[in-house]
Amino acid sequence: METMSEPFYVTTPIYYVNDAPHIGHAYTTVAADVLARWRRMWGDDVVFLTGTDEHGLKVQRSAEARGLAPLDWATTNSDLFRQAWDDLDITYDDYIRTTEPRHRAAVQAMLQRVYDAGDIELDSYEGLYCVGCELYYKEDELEGGTNCPIHGAPVEHVVEENYFFRLSRYEDRLLQHYADHPEAVQPAGKRNEVLGLIKQGLQDFSISRTSISWGIPLPWDAEHVAYVWFDALINYCTAVGYPDDREQFTRYWPVNYHLIGKDILRQHAVYWPAMLMAAGEEPPQCVFAHGYLLVGGEKMSKTRLNQIAPADLVADFGVDGFRYHFLVDQRFGPDGDFSYEAMVARYNADLANNFGNLANRVLNMAVNYCGGIVPDTRADGPLVQQASDAFAALTALLGELDYAGGFGAVWDLIRHTNAYIEDQAPWALNKAGETAAVAAVLGDCLETLRIVALLASPIIPQAAAELWRRLGLPGRPEDQRLPEVAAWGQLPPGANLEKGTPLFPRIESGEA
Ligand code: MSP
Repeated sequence: METMSEPFYVTTPIYYVNDAPHIGHAYTTVAADVLARWRRMWGDDVVFLTGTDEHGLKVQRSAEARGLAPLDWATTNSDLFRQAWDDLDITYDDYIRTTEPRHRAAVQAMLQRVYDAGDIELDSYEGLYCVGCELYYKEDELEGGTNCPIHGAPVEHVVEENYFFRLSRYEDRLLQHYADHPEAVQPAGKRNEVLGLIKQGLQDFSISRTSISWGIPLPWDAEHVAYVWFDALINYCTAVGYPDDREQFTRYWPVNYHLIGKDILRQHAVYWPAMLMAAGEEPPQCVFAHGYLLVGGEKMSKTRLNQIAPADLVADFGVDGFRYHFLVDQRFGPDGDFSYEAMVARYNADLANNFGNLANRVLNMAVNYCGGIVPDTRADGPLVQQASDAFAALTALLGELDYAGGFGAVWDLIRHTNAYIEDQAPWALNKAGETAAVAAVLGDCLETLRIVALLASPIIPQAAAELWRRLGLPGRPEDQRLPEVAAWGQLPPGANLEKGTPLFPRIESGEA
């Protein structure tokens, strides 16, 4: 009997095309990719969406500064993001651009629904606007009363006759929603921040502009284009069929996870659920806001000239080395500092030494002592429990987006196995002619390697696939089906093993 797989929908923010991809963008994108790969291994019907945010004043101005048409500038940069994700083995299922016709149709449909519901009205407004954030601020939120708290640059005084979204009508409904769904904003500190913002009182916000033309026209008044955030957030609905394909839309909506940086929490956890409620749709199941990746203690930004391109690190550490570092070096949630030295140290300790050495020595010994053929694995070897504990911990912790904890448990299994080898000394057993004992120990280790390749494949997909191949296994680890395949004892005896070059060559400090 065929069972219908569960839908699982995960998104990254769509990135502004005035900037080139840097490791901050990659951080969110790799996190979403690991989750998508993991859920696919469980047999879920995954939609993993990323893309680019191409309208608005910020993009228009940066195109103008280069003498380019906004769409040409957007296309060039959107392609750079796509390339960066391809280079990092990101398995997005859909790549959305807000300049696509499907998105224009979705934005116009949602605007019209909210307008018809009476929650968009014409009004005039005077306020302090940061173009970097594409956001209005109150004076007391500004640095020194004049500068944006995120960009540090002076805000602009703007007077507009505009359409306003009546956000102020949604305070109670939002509070009720978050009371009913405490898991809807994570981590808990961010949830409290959101509740604080709502309780302070919400102001209506302008959702249209007449001063710029680079955007999606309002369906009932083409003099106005939609405000970039009202446009951008709707991408999450566009990609799963809104408004026309109701069947697809209701399959994936409400989204399981919006992964975002903490800089855009207000838009995702206050504006967006209210917009959805106004349009008669359900709010997201979970908005998970992670901290900043800091370089030298500061957030990366164009003006600070401290941006690092993912490709520069991939050149030194490889795709797997890059992916592993950012998700395991620090917890997903708080801010974390990036340093090249720490990246070298962790790569050498975890990937070159623990993972790489285990694979290398086990395969080498199996080739030398067992003729390169998988011996029988014991059903009750001493690593059975540890392997099953690692799987259980990874499953539980990835369920909370605790990547460092989850993969930490897999690396504990690797360390245990290395210690087991030291303890059993198969080289001595081999010398003593104890063939059965050698086969038993190496069988345990080979089976553990199979399980490690499976469990580590979402985060280090290339090395995991290569290890899988060297173990003589068909297919790729990512195509296996959990939980069955994580159970002990599935390495087929008699398969041909292959030793090879180190999966993670050591990096000497200062060499790269
Ligand atoms: N276009 C909006 C998002 C619209 S979503 C409907 C936007 N784009 S952005 O290009 O500025 O990307 C912001 C996101 O990039 C952050 O929320 C975060 O996910 C990621 N990061 C950018 N810089 C970062 C760090 N320094 N550290 C961690 N993540 C960072 O805002």
